[in-house]
Amino acid sequence: MDIPECIRENVPLAGLTTFKIGGPARWFAAPANRAQVSAALAFARERGIPVLVMGGGSNLLVADAGVEALVIRLDAAGEFGSIQPERPGEGEAPAGLAWRVGAAASLPELVSRLAREGVCGPEAFAGIPGRVGGAAAMNAGAAAGGFGQFVMAAEVADREGNIACLDREALNFSYRGSGLPGRLALSFELRFSELGDGKELTHRAKNFLDRKRSTQPLAFPSAGCVFKNPSGTASAGALLDWSGCKGLREGGAEVSTLHANFIINTGGATCRDVVGLLSRLREVVREKHGIILEPEIRLWGPAETFPGFGVDGGFHTNREAKC
Ligand code: EPU
Repeated sequence: MDIPECIRENVPLAGLTTFKIGGPARWFAAPANRAQVSAALAFARERGIPVLVMGGGSNLLVADAGVEALVIRLDAAGEFGSIQPERPGEGEAPAGLAWRVGAAASLPELVSRLAREGVCGPEAFAGIPGRVGGAAAMNAGAAAGGFGQFVMAAEVADREGNIACLDREALNFSYRGSGLPGRLALSFELRFSELGDGKELTHRAKNFLDRKRSTQPLAFPSAGCVFKNPSGTASAGALLDWSGCKGLREGGAEVSTLHANFIINTGGATCRDVVGLLSRLREVVREKHGIILEPEIRLWGPAETFPGFGVDGGFHTNREAKC
């Protein structure tokens, strides 16, 4: 099979992540429409290449050597970046509560748009970077719960390139997880329960953002919280803080002095630096508190780069299936 037009080789990924770290993708596609999505998946299937789906790159650490995979990052310029109100059918929720949103739409843009439109709920997600697809896949969290609470259904491309609609039961939302990783989400049906005043909600969104800015190092490149909060104990950030981890450094990577569950790239940090810090942090908390922290960020690259941590190997498209 020839290389489809939407696929490029050896594309640097660091600039596409909020950590600003990592090597290239061996293959990279930014499909702008469904035909290009199918062509990219068919290419991966024919060559037996694993597929990794990239959202806003805000929860991701890429190996310095890069990834031997096809990275698919939907093009946000077209239909996959759109945010549209849905007209309610008879007997359905009132106008303004149902939205069809492309997986590549920016989460901060969605939050400010819906606040302006007087939709209650998403304002609590102000300050979370990334795209709607990633926020759904990771069930990105705020004090008010995960983003999955708004998702009624997702349109996904399966491994053969067929488009299917999955309802919320099939999406299996959990703490920082869902059934979406391993699938390529194209768009979502979002449903909200209450309308309010646009000015008031915009103000509330700003307050959430200000609160985040005062407790999280948002001005530095990072991937957000690096470890999941363990269940039934103090948060990972508090455990790391009590263990004296703030300010620990490895090369250009530093444990934030503002929030101990953030590793910031102070300039020129490598994946190796971050993995070194992750291992030290995990060891300190294991020693002092007997708790094994699990990474919250996704790790892309050769397994040897992330000793003791599980990498996201992507998914293989079904080579036998007909497209
Ligand atoms: N804390 C410390 N020291 C620290 C950090 C936190 O003592 O260095 C304490 C805080 O004072 C607070 C508690 O730990 O009492 C919890 O901290 P925080 O409110 O900052 O929440 P978190 O559990 O650390 C979670 C999410 C964040 C999300 C915030 C706000 C996880 C792993 N983290 O953080 O998500 O922004 O709640 O809702 O679930 C992310 O996913 O990347 C992320 C940053």
